[in-house]
Amino acid sequence: MYDLKNFTLDEKIRLLTGIDAWRLYMADGKLPEVFLSDGPHGLRRVGNPKEGGGDTTIFATAMPNVVNLGNGWDEGLARLSGSTIADECVMHGSDVLLAPGVNIKRSPLCGRNFEYFSEDPVLAGRLGKAFIEGVQSKGVGTSLKHYALNNSENDRYSASSEIDERTMREIYLTPFEIALQAKPTTVMCSYNKINGIHASENRYLLKDILRDTFGFEGIVISDWGACHNRFKSLKATLDLCMPEKGDAFDQVKEAYEKGWVSEEDIDYCAENVLTFIARLQEMKKIRKVEWTKEERHENTVKIATESMVLLKNDDGVLPLKKRSICVLGELAKKPAICGGGSSHVRTEYTQKHLADLLKETLEVEVDYEDAYHGHTCGLVGARSSIERAAKADQVVLVVGEDTSLVCEAMNRTALRLLPKHEMLIENVARVNENVIVVIEAGSAIDTSPWQHLVKGILYAGYGGDGTNEAICALLCGKSVPCGKLSETFPFAADDVVSNPNYARGGIDRYEEGILYGYRGAEYNEIPVLYPFGYGLSYAAFDYENLTVEKTGDASCTVSYDVINRSDFPAKEISEVYVRDISCRVLRPEKELKAFSKDLIPANGKKRVSVTLTERDFAYYSVNLKDWYVENGAFDILVGASSDDIRLSARFTATLPEEKQFT
Ligand code: GLC
Repeated sequence: MYDLKNFTLDEKIRLLTGIDAWRLYMADGKLPEVFLSDGPHGLRRVGNPKEGGGDTTIFATAMPNVVNLGNGWDEGLARLSGSTIADECVMHGSDVLLAPGVNIKRSPLCGRNFEYFSEDPVLAGRLGKAFIEGVQSKGVGTSLKHYALNNSENDRYSASSEIDERTMREIYLTPFEIALQAKPTTVMCSYNKINGIHASENRYLLKDILRDTFGFEGIVISDWGACHNRFKSLKATLDLCMPEKGDAFDQVKEAYEKGWVSEEDIDYCAENVLTFIARLQEMKKIRKVEWTKEERHENTVKIATESMVLLKNDDGVLPLKKRSICVLGELAKKPAICGGGSSHVRTEYTQKHLADLLKETLEVEVDYEDAYHGHTCGLVGARSSIERAAKADQVVLVVGEDTSLVCEAMNRTALRLLPKHEMLIENVARVNENVIVVIEAGSAIDTSPWQHLVKGILYAGYGGDGTNEAICALLCGKSVPCGKLSETFPFAADDVVSNPNYARGGIDRYEEGILYGYRGAEYNEIPVLYPFGYGLSYAAFDYENLTVEKTGDASCTVSYDVINRSDFPAKEISEVYVRDISCRVLRPEKELKAFSKDLIPANGKKRVSVTLTERDFAYYSVNLKDWYVENGAFDILVGASSDDIRLSARFTATLPEEKQFT
């Protein structure tokens, strides 16, 4: 559609850098406008230059954050979220949505975990792939980000992630490799260095791995401001530097005149950009707005409801009973619905007060008090909050971390709740034995100081516009909780990543290698607060009749029954792990390789089947520079969480001798 021959050398150089914060070069009308917009939690269209610029963002639907998509374990929900956001991209003329981020949640202290799916590469990759499918099904492009090893926010512009090849391929690049199956239009390179070289100038990552090994055919764009030297990034095959960069043209032109870059180098990236623009024009033909504003809101409620995680429910304290309730906490009125930074969405939706929703739903007396204001000032009305709690039959206490504590470009400093929130929980638990704590947060919270004092804990994540309606539906039993944690909740961050640099930035060595998260906790026998894949339901499930049908030298079909022992239908996430029994290299105790979320009928069952391929049994061999399966015995483990294995069966890989090494 756009022939490189029709562009001068100068025009080709200008193609390689944005013309402002969000748009590409249009070559005096030879090319259509291409507008890039954030983000993973909804359309953040900032200062459209055509509409006079400025910093106010347009109003858009605030989706449940990616942390919730992770805890939902449901590719359909991820697709629905992407597709819902794409509606508003189409309405406002944004051609590419700068999402999803699939970076591994290496540490619970990472400030951007709320924007990422999981600590596990298979879960993160498959959900990221589904999100891309959802967005692109509406004719809107995507940006798979932040490539790569952007697992900390401290010192993110210059920190160097120091990592061995096997860990990088087996853990940190796998989510990108899987998500690329959805053919995103762009990949966004990250700010940080990888083994000393910025991602934007890292040809090994951008060309050798991303294109030549993973087969990526779209364009690589920089994170905003991640491109330091335009000709060096050009040599690394960074196609598009964003945003506009005043010295980019001169840097490339000078390098060309000095012979540091060739016209061939320039043409390689310019061609990629023209192909990308042409692909977007083709995608425009299928653009459509599918839902009304109200339907998009309902989508946020559905996703939020199916992704919140019930962590504790002693004595069946939940669902709430038709007796008096006291709701405490300012977040019940103004919930924390998202994390801060470029993924923040300006919503015009006003949350209904949780107390009012509970009153409407249960038709009981519901009392309320702020109990605290924000995170900075002290407890207000502490005495009256305690007195109100004492009078009620049940207490719902809402706590958590808002954007003042959880935001891009800064790591978290602690896993525990604010002292004021912990103190409130302790004081209220002294006067009421039916306390339920609702946590609004973007990553793991250390509940250990107080969880034994309360009977119920609901981890809400960040539910976007659907937050309070989802919390109410779950607390009242209108919906059955079916989320499970997509990251380990450790007792301490150092249990996961003990590297002191993690908190400081600078050179961050991934010394833990492949043994982080549940992989590390199990191998090192470190107890955790809540394990990867954990989440309760109001229903009870059993797992039976596991069969493993060998379909190839190192592949099989795994089938099992999930039985619902309760008299109401409910969804259950089942998890399939692989354990290499006889391997001669270090491997984790087990690794997630498949999962399924299924609606199981009341007092009924469903037979679930998943397939495992040779890749699911392989580890990455640095010597072979490829994935490798050692013949021998494996265990296939099916469970309700990583530490609640219900069924297991032996499987033997029998690859031909020529594919084996001694
Ligand atoms: C930000 C983020 C990136 C975002 C971009 C544009 O710094 O790292 O995720 O898409 O800049 O806002």
